[in-house]
Amino acid sequence: MNKASDNQRMEKIVSLCKRRGFIFQSSEIYGGLNGVWDYGPLGVELKRNLKNYWWRVMVHERNDIVGMDGSILMNRAVWKASGHEDTFTDPMIDCRSCKSRLRADQVFEKRGGKQCPICGSKDLTDPRAFNLMFKTHVGATEDEASITYLRPETAQAIFVQFKNVLEVSRKKLPFGIAQIGKAFRNEINPRNFTFRSREFEQMELEYFCRPEQGMELLEYWKEERLKFYGNIGIPRSKLHVLNVPDEERAFYSKGTYDIEYDFPFGRQELEGVAYRTDYDLSQHQKESGKSLEYFDEETKQNFIPHVVEPSAGVDRTVLALICEAYSEDQAPDEKGNMETRIVLRFHPRIAPIKCAVFPLLKNKEPLVAKAKEIVDLLRLHMYIFYDESGAIGRRYRRQDEIGTPFAITVDFETLGEKNPTLRDTVTLRDRDSMKQERVKMSELTQLLLTRIA
Ligand code: GAP
Repeated sequence: MNKASDNQRMEKIVSLCKRRGFIFQSSEIYGGLNGVWDYGPLGVELKRNLKNYWWRVMVHERNDIVGMDGSILMNRAVWKASGHEDTFTDPMIDCRSCKSRLRADQVFEKRGGKQCPICGSKDLTDPRAFNLMFKTHVGATEDEASITYLRPETAQAIFVQFKNVLEVSRKKLPFGIAQIGKAFRNEINPRNFTFRSREFEQMELEYFCRPEQGMELLEYWKEERLKFYGNIGIPRSKLHVLNVPDEERAFYSKGTYDIEYDFPFGRQELEGVAYRTDYDLSQHQKESGKSLEYFDEETKQNFIPHVVEPSAGVDRTVLALICEAYSEDQAPDEKGNMETRIVLRFHPRIAPIKCAVFPLLKNKEPLVAKAKEIVDLLRLHMYIFYDESGAIGRRYRRQDEIGTPFAITVDFETLGEKNPTLRDTVTLRDRDSMKQERVKMSELTQLLLTRIA
């Protein structure tokens, strides 16, 4: 696709997200707040499905990983020890003409000097370090002693609770601690919709191991994470693995892969998989004075474990899922004329609504009663949407546009009026193929559960 059509595609996606209740601008009625977003009724379902699936494959389906849920506010000492207070910065340049604050890597040389990409001026400051953490005060007094930060990553809570979790879970190396939660970064230039936000969620795993296992586990987790994206409907052909070169890696990392996705606005990072060695635990042991060592029963030795960290962004993955799902095709309208159909082709596993239920006519009480019976049956197992208004074709279109993979219609056959052998059967329509099959009501739950698993 060319740049213009990619831009157009992104505009359509942003507009659909608002129109159908996936993502809204935060504080919209007050003009918004740059880099902050709210998820509407469908967005929150999509996000939950993603997080639940991550948790399922990372924690529930394995014996070697346990979860935790750390606080957003932590002792400032954590951020000093981790290096965030001194080094979690972006170099930044100010334009003296238009007063824009720009990331240094977005200011390029033109005709013999750096030029502001907004106004073209060359009257720019030298790059200065800008800390990305949001500072706050704990308690009533706003002084140096009460300073802390909103966490810029969830990982540090895992490191500082390493010993507690190890003791209660009685795990042996290699084992991991998983966490999903909010993170905050005062990004200089939030952009590309939710891609670079100031408040976002991360899904992070810290997988602790012996030093000699680090490089092998880095490869293992890269492959596991690529499989994960495939299982939620992001094809391998749209994912790219960047082996981060030595000079761009954190000094303590022995290897880092960025998993990137082809967004309409370009190839961008979805997740980092980093071998962080023993840096974090060593730092916290040194600064807290508390042992964070692991006792090896076999060798009777104490040592600080190494760690491999797959760290994914919830919001970026949600955006990738929406971008990947968005499609337009041609389908017949009520009168058989072809029209453009907007479809979100979500994998059924992560689709916000799994199945819609329609009575063919809303003024036929037996049809409505049967449809509501089906809703009651299915809603114990999955998120269902009931709709009785408008022509059936319109109702299908509305569900296609929000990515509902299945739709059930209760018609006169269901009531057995024409053919008693069809009593208590319904039509089950597939969003992508638009094909319909006749299914017994008694088999619906199992059939749908298999298809959305
Ligand atoms: N603990 C390691 C860590 O935080 P990171 O590469 O800075 O590493 C991990 O962040 C992931 O968090 C990124 O790959 C991305 O998906 C997400 N992320 C980071 N900054 C973000 C932002 N400003 N907006 C949305 N997601 C972000």
